[in-house]
Amino acid sequence: MVKIAVLGLQGSGKSYFTREYFLRSQPYHLVIDPMDEYDGFTRYVPHTKFMENYDSLNQEIALIHRKLVWPNILTLEKQAKGHNKPKRLRMLVYEEADMYMPSQRLLNASIRRTYIQCRHMQLDLIAVSRRPTDLNTYVMDVADYLIVFKISGANALKTLRNMNADCVDAVRRLSYDKHEFILFDRDRSFEQYTLDTIPDGIIKMEK
Ligand SMILES: Nc1ncnc2c1ncn2[C@@H]1O[C@H](COP(=O)(O)OP(=O)(O)OP(=O)(O)O)[C@@H](O)[C@H]1O
Ligand SMILES: [Mg+2]
Repeated sequence: MVKIAVLGLQGSGKSYFTREYFLRSQPYHLVIDPMDEYDGFTRYVPHTKFMENYDSLNQEIALIHRKLVWPNILTLEKQAKGHNKPKRLRMLVYEEADMYMPSQRLLNASIRRTYIQCRHMQLDLIAVSRRPTDLNTYVMDVADYLIVFKISGANALKTLRNMNADCVDAVRRLSYDKHEFILFDRDRSFEQYTLDTIPDGIIKMEK
């Protein structure tokens, strides 16, 4: 079970990486896909489109958890009792996460519950957002891994500097066009990769 935040400028390669690296290797996934860009993957495209409808979007997010996520997970406790459900959900991707887990609001209760219980649910959680400052700080703080594509802006860099003071130069040098990124580990040490150079198995996902 891992919790991951994927960050970076528009067009830096977050969604491409999420598709190619995470989703292709995990058939038992669900993507919450507000921009309707994950054709061919298992996804839910919310009806509510805009932040102005924040309350109805949050109701829809809660409904997705109640109807699609929680019924399809198998807790450690149930497994211990011998329940068997091999085709259960193992990966949940929150695309455009700042739309429904923005920094300046209380975290949606369904999302919070899923983050708190994801180890028991044996569920990998991936939140994709552009700027670290837009995303709910809880989701940033509890992330086991952070994947940071090209990013700029004083506040974004400040957030990253607070995580690891040595990373700022490396982040500044990232190529936007080559879709380079930095992978921060649990202890916030970091290494630079691309989709082609990231070693297999470096992120320990659910099997
Ligand atoms: N590793 C890659 N190799 C080749 N093309 C890539 C790669 N990563 C991204 N691209 C291309 O770059 C463009 C932008 O990528 P992507 O949609 O992943 O960006 P994004 O960070 O999700 O942007 P947004 O914030 O707007 O959602 C796409 O056309 C995609 O096909
Ligand atoms: Mg995207």
